[in-house]
Amino acid sequence: MRFYIIQPQYDEELQTSNFLPNLFNPADASVIARVSDSDKEDISRAVAAARRAFESGPWRRMTPSERGKYLWRVGDAILEHADELAELESIDNGKPRAVARVADVPLAADLFHYMAGWATKIEGNTIPISVPYAPGAHFHAFTLREPVGVIGQIIPWNFPLLMAAWKLGPALTAGNCVVLKPAEQTPLSALRLAELMLELGLPEGVVNIVTGFGETAGASLASHEDVDKIAFTGSTEVGKLIVHAAAGNLKKVSLELGGKSPNIIFKDAPNLEAAVAGAADAIFFNHGQCCCAGSRLMVERDIFDEVVAGVSEKAKRIKLGPGLAPDTQMGPLVSEEQLNRVTRYMNLGKEEGACYVTGGRRAGDQGYFVQPTVIKDVRDNMSIVREEIFGPVVVAESFNKPEELVLKANQTQYGLAAGVWTRDIAKAHKVAAALKAGTVWINCYNVFDSALPFGGYKQSGWGREMGHDVLELYTQTKAVVVGL
Ligand code: NAI
Ligand code: MG
Repeated sequence: MRFYIIQPQYDEELQTSNFLPNLFNPADASVIARVSDSDKEDISRAVAAARRAFESGPWRRMTPSERGKYLWRVGDAILEHADELAELESIDNGKPRAVARVADVPLAADLFHYMAGWATKIEGNTIPISVPYAPGAHFHAFTLREPVGVIGQIIPWNFPLLMAAWKLGPALTAGNCVVLKPAEQTPLSALRLAELMLELGLPEGVVNIVTGFGETAGASLASHEDVDKIAFTGSTEVGKLIVHAAAGNLKKVSLELGGKSPNIIFKDAPNLEAAVAGAADAIFFNHGQCCCAGSRLMVERDIFDEVVAGVSEKAKRIKLGPGLAPDTQMGPLVSEEQLNRVTRYMNLGKEEGACYVTGGRRAGDQGYFVQPTVIKDVRDNMSIVREEIFGPVVVAESFNKPEELVLKANQTQYGLAAGVWTRDIAKAHKVAAALKAGTVWINCYNVFDSALPFGGYKQSGWGREMGHDVLELYTQTKAVVVGL
């Protein structure tokens, strides 16, 4: 195994002697790397570097076309280093290398390629105005879409490289400068990405990656007086702390938070086999460590037993193993903390009287593996039904009437995503319209694209990432009026 010692890139004067606790390989708890544990002062230096770059550096002033070309080359560089980045992602996060190689890495590259195109297409409007109190006067009025300034970005550990791409791509295409704090569990791919960006000639200070803990580095970034906007992905609990921290200078805030997403299968699903496979993928992909995981499986009564048996069969057949082993289908959870959190929920469900069709405990005694788990006979007030578990654990419930179903599906503080499986086109659209969720997948699940906006209703977040919607988060509108 390689051993990485990585220092922050952003400031040559920086003399950091503090390190985070060792980074562990989640498959066997061995040490893989040490990275700097940055504090408030390190964050301030990074913010100052970003501020200098924004106010007087070339990034904002270069032509949009040049900026776009640069971002395109970042996408190319990610693809050129795809094997290396997939390996880093696998040893740091635990996910299968093969999955990172076909999903995380190409999606990250595609995000930069997609955002590269936007650099030249961020436009304002010309607006005919009437001004009732100025009869006879003439004006030429228009809007400019300007970058917001210095952006703080805090990302989680479930898709480390992809989350860095989701955050950096749109911020940079709009001309902003960034300080990004990766999750303390998984900083390696963001650091490598920043290195690749430097090699491509990114002007100094435009991107600053600062490693450190949430409570220290993250909190300092969220409350920093010279940060104009903070973008956060992670738990709803920390999302609320970010909102408070941002109040000091009223920086703009966008949040992509947790979920407890319903995946609804009607008995007229076009292909039950595909629906069962989709339901398994909805919860087991990335070991259930997805904000949009289909963690509440809702099945029409007539086919409930068949679907639950099918998903359980798939769960039992999943090959657990280290991320780097070629035949691994599911790796370990990311950390000991997550192992404890997920197994605590597994135990809680048993105490609350739910029925475990399969799984329900830690797998093996080395590394942070848990069994893919399917649970039925649950009640609405159980914590396993209400709270985000963030592991490969699905609760299955049956329903009879579509009206009850929609009420029940929406009975959650979250609203990130939902799945609907039916061949009845009218029913599909009616249910999709009634679901309070930022994404609804019909006869599919986990379909992502750089062009599709993603984000949450209710306590799943503020704002939308990707697509052209994300540009709202990284630009601000200036109205200019010329008296003629
Ligand atoms: P977290 O929300 O604590 O961590 C996410 C990021 O926020 C990390 O970079 C962390 O360093 C940072 N952070 C933590 N506390 C902070 C603070 N006070 N101020 C600023 N930044 C802070 O999530 P954690 O503890 O890793 O996982 C706990 C639960 O959160 C998971 O079990 C899961 O339910 C949920 N989660 C949801 C994610 C999503 O994609 N929506 C991603 C990761 C976790
Ligand atoms: Mg936390």
